[in-house]
Amino acid sequence: MEKRHVGFDLIVYGSEGELTPEDLSLLQKAREVRDGAYAPYSGFKVGAALLLESGEFVVGSNQENASFPSGLCAERVAVFQAGARFPDTPIKSIAITASGRVAKLSIPAAPCGNCRQSMLEYETRQGRPIRILMQGEAGVIYECPSVASLLPLGFDGSFLT
Ligand code: THU
Repeated sequence: MEKRHVGFDLIVYGSEGELTPEDLSLLQKAREVRDGAYAPYSGFKVGAALLLESGEFVVGSNQENASFPSGLCAERVAVFQAGARFPDTPIKSIAITASGRVAKLSIPAAPCGNCRQSMLEYETRQGRPIRILMQGEAGVIYECPSVASLLPLGFDGSFLT
């Protein structure tokens, strides 16, 4: 028997002031798109902004539906859009931010399991890590080095060969 460590070092920024100008502007884009999210049922608005290697930005917000399972999370709206519009351009970073219906969200909004799985597909495909930044409406910002770090022992296409 052996024990293997599968964790990662989470970087925690105390506030936006500690971010690079590039990360701050990505987070700002995520906030802008979050405010236009279509979330009439949950009231929970999420915005995601991607920075591509080309310098291009792609954004997404959650899109809900009266038939609940038909809606989609912000992260998948963004990465699917990037996949459709810029299929050959790697994604460098994604910033994710969320706001609640009532109380001001002061803890970072971590992507759900389905979004982690979807983002892993793009990371695996491009062969380079996608950095993830997350924040609530205010407060600390988390940085994760890759999607794989958020989905240890993940399932990818290599199992299907
Ligand atoms: N949501 C996201 O957009 N991203 C996530 O990673 C978690 C949840 C959305 C889906 C739904 O519209 C609302 O937040 C409440 O779950």
